[in-house]
Amino acid sequence: MTEYIKHHAWRIIEEGFHPENNKVSESIFSIGNGAMGQRANFEEEYSGNTLQGSYIGGVYYPDKTRVGWWKNGYPEYFAKIINATNWIGVKVRVQDEVFDLNTCQINHFKRELNMQEGTLTRTVTATLPSGKQLTLKAQRFVSLQDTTLGAVSYAVTPLNFNGEITLLPLLDGGVKNADANYNEQFWQTIAKQATTEVSYLHTQTKKTHFDVAVAMRNQLFIENQQVANTPICWEKDEQIGQQFSVLVRQNQTLTLHKYVAVASSFSHPNQPLVPFVQQKVSTFESQGYKKLLKEHTQAWQQKWNESDIKIEGDIAAQQAIRYNIFQLYQTYTGANEQLNIGPKGFTGEKYGGVTYWDTEAYCLPFYMRTSEAHVARNLLKYRYNHLKKAQENAEKLGFNRGAALYPMVTINGEECHNEWEITFEEIHRNGAIAYAIYNYIQYTGDTDYMLDYGLEVLIAISRFWAQRVNWSQAKQKYVLLGVTGPNEYENNVNNNWYTLKLIEWTLRYTLEQLELYKDLKIFDKLCKKTAFNTKKEADKWMHILDNLYLPEDQQKGIFLQQDGFLDKELVPANQLPANERPIHEHWSWDRILRSCYIKQADVLQGLYMFQDEYPPETIKRNFEFYEPLTVHESSLSPCIHSILASAIGLHDKAYEMYLRTARLDLDNLNNDTADGLHITSMGGTWMTIVEGFAGLRISQNMLSFTPNIPAKWKSYNFTIRFRSHILEVTITQTAICIKTNNPQELVLLINGQTEKIDKNNPVEVQLSKQQTVS
Ligand code: BGC
Repeated sequence: MTEYIKHHAWRIIEEGFHPENNKVSESIFSIGNGAMGQRANFEEEYSGNTLQGSYIGGVYYPDKTRVGWWKNGYPEYFAKIINATNWIGVKVRVQDEVFDLNTCQINHFKRELNMQEGTLTRTVTATLPSGKQLTLKAQRFVSLQDTTLGAVSYAVTPLNFNGEITLLPLLDGGVKNADANYNEQFWQTIAKQATTEVSYLHTQTKKTHFDVAVAMRNQLFIENQQVANTPICWEKDEQIGQQFSVLVRQNQTLTLHKYVAVASSFSHPNQPLVPFVQQKVSTFESQGYKKLLKEHTQAWQQKWNESDIKIEGDIAAQQAIRYNIFQLYQTYTGANEQLNIGPKGFTGEKYGGVTYWDTEAYCLPFYMRTSEAHVARNLLKYRYNHLKKAQENAEKLGFNRGAALYPMVTINGEECHNEWEITFEEIHRNGAIAYAIYNYIQYTGDTDYMLDYGLEVLIAISRFWAQRVNWSQAKQKYVLLGVTGPNEYENNVNNNWYTLKLIEWTLRYTLEQLELYKDLKIFDKLCKKTAFNTKKEADKWMHILDNLYLPEDQQKGIFLQQDGFLDKELVPANQLPANERPIHEHWSWDRILRSCYIKQADVLQGLYMFQDEYPPETIKRNFEFYEPLTVHESSLSPCIHSILASAIGLHDKAYEMYLRTARLDLDNLNNDTADGLHITSMGGTWMTIVEGFAGLRISQNMLSFTPNIPAKWKSYNFTIRFRSHILEVTITQTAICIKTNNPQELVLLINGQTEKIDKNNPVEVQLSKQQTVS
């Protein structure tokens, strides 16, 4: 754990340069706008430890699968959103001496992410090996207003000399992925040109043939006065640039404004890309840095108005929640239904930037409640658009008649994960996709979605479940063999309770929905389209529902993670020596598989999702049994535990788990932030406050709150959408207050009591002692 990030309500600040933390900081200070994003690499050359990363949404390469032992059904490739043209670069020469922080003495260094405005700023004072001293102020942003725009302001001031400074802003297409299975070059250059006015670079991915065009223009200023300086056009390998050499006097500031326009054939499919980016960048240049920045910060202001969470009395918690919200919106804005949310967003290569069940289980609740309805709808549509591929995937594995198995990992609907225990066995992902449809419709009231898209997906998933279970003669029940639950520290287990619970729930929900809509005209059309046989299939599903095996231990009063779980040696995780954690880095896989240690919520994930089906005592018993055995070695784990802990009154535990999820990357708690941020678990962090502390649920088709507040907090406040209302919720140590912007009455539940509010009548309810004392 590295606590070098200063606490501040709106800013992420690193003071002093710690080269050993550089890769961690490059992740933490990442910026993005939903369409593209990048790690906080330096603009100038840096010969120290760095992971270069600049990514463009949807632009991927199918990296050929590499496995020791090929198994039938493995995908041919792992899709990766790849490192793309690096457009931030500015090479700096001070009278022919290279400016490289790795070779300088650094007298002052500050890196700052302004979350309110969406800018990354770095100020440095450094002494070069020759003794020349200069300051640098570099700022950049990727615009939320126009997602093709990237801009850099790069200012150098010589402190103890007069001399020539050369700035070479460039576009670099010679980029690689650190993680490439066969060390292949993923890109080819199609065209490039530098003129004294504008430069461009047109590259294309091999195999997938995505075109990416980036155009660049630059302006130069001395002491804020623009100077006319004709650059030398510069080209080297896959790099192209414009070189400016200027005589600068001591204490004069030379500033470069670099504008780029970035577009891909993914985001602009019907556009001749080069003229498009050239035209864009010329508009950007004429608008100027200040105006572009202003529009960008206004767009951020809008986002914050809709989604900020204010916490009074706990600066670490305040900074952390804003950071999580900020990174979620930097990754996904819902503007394009073909985009999704990679576990690391645009901040690193791990997980390839592609889609996991994380989206439905951890991110959808955030977008559904903070953004306009189309944003969450687009996340669901993404899976609907992949339904055919999910059916083909199931067919490849031996299922039929329109059964769908959604991939564990995907970019285009095809499976691209290739560890048998996860690819073939971690089938619970199907359940998260079904549950997301329910969650979305229940929250937004958008029942059209069910008829237009949802039911087709539910039928296909139910068909898969019905074929995946089998009748056990011995148990006289339907059982589920050979699966991996969310706890990936167990493989090939029989009767994972969580997955069985999802099977039960999906079949029941699908049948209910079919019954609900059976008299509508559209229903017949749907039955035809899906070849759904009401009598035969529905009867089979009912039979499964009536006879499904769900393992539990009556004596302990708990659900069993899987058959045989209680045969393990049950030693609480707090007895593990600190130097053996995380266990996946210290223990053999064999030892992990046989151990009782749980990577992330498994039974508890199910109890979180289906909380209203169980009395609090049942949840508590399961929590108290499983949590002590949980090592939380997935970032997705603490949030679910925090929410459940709040629900059962374990407030200290809830707060401990909140900080663990919220500050996971800021404090590098899992020691892996260098690889990139844990973007999808950030959705879980948001849920921890809104569903955990504030206790938001839907109950009897009403919005319901059972709030509590951590002892350390004076108050917290958040904004959510609910159907036609935008609500502001404030919870203090004594009361909860809810306001709506809508003149129409809204009936809601607070602590189980009905309350009515409208625009002119907010509601305030006192909290009981139990809800405030932690
Ligand atoms: C977790 C999975 C998750 C994946 C991507 C793994 O470590 O166990 O549940 O889908 O990371 O975040």
